Amino acid sequence: MANILWTLLYFFLVVDVAFIVVAGIVFTYFLFASRFMRSSPPVPTVGKVKQGMLNAVEEYIKGKPHANVVDLGSGWGSLLLPLAAKYPQHTFIGYERVRLPYIISRFRARKLPNVHIYRQDFFTADFSDVDAIMCFQLAAIMQKLLSYLRQHISKTVRIYVNRYPFKDLIPLEKISIEGDYAVYYVYDIKPDKSVHQHEAILKSGEWS
Ligand SMILES: C[S@@+](CC[C@H](N)C(=O)[O-])C[C@H]1O[C@@H](n2cnc3c(N)ncnc32)[C@H](O)[C@@H]1O
Repeated sequence: MANILWTLLYFFLVVDVAFIVVAGIVFTYFLFASRFMRSSPPVPTVGKVKQGMLNAVEEYIKGKPHANVVDLGSGWGSLLLPLAAKYPQHTFIGYERVRLPYIISRFRARKLPNVHIYRQDFFTADFSDVDAIMCFQLAAIMQKLLSYLRQHISKTVRIYVNRYPFKDLIPLEKISIEGDYAVYYVYDIKPDKSVHQHEAILKSGEWS
């Protein structure tokens, strides 16, 4: 009897240690992958916010003959893939710079010819023909992002932003699901080719 108890104790100890080691490796990976939180970790949009954002994007694109929809930092593909499966007539583009979520999202999208996921910094992407954007990034980069988008879009673009808003832009809508924690914002961004504003922000380094 004592032997069985010792074996069980030993077993649970090994399982616990293994769990702690694996969790530590995963945590460290994401910490490094997101460069010590200077850019957002691959945490997906989930729950009611995810459903709300997906419904809102659907409402926007469903009447259009064709739309290009971008997810900025597409992670595991949790926003892009359900929309792409439902709307084969539209094109869904993801930019993701961390290798693991990029590979997994590419794999998950393998049967969806209307999905294109690139392992690329979205600050180098071409937004000239984009109709709608989804975004879940840290507050620290939102101003730089707004500036970049204004410079690189060529028509008004609808953007759905999870949690961290653009400070200097009034949203069309703010949808609060649970206070300021579970919330998303809807904006229309207009092109603004004024180089000065963008360069000033980049040079200040404040949001880099
Ligand atoms: C919070 S996750 C959101 C994932 C997905 N959009 C969603 O809502 O489920 C943010 C993702 O953006 C990626 N990311 C952050 N900065 C990026 C950049 N400059 N270029 C490309 N991907 C970036 C991160 O690696 C991370 O996977």
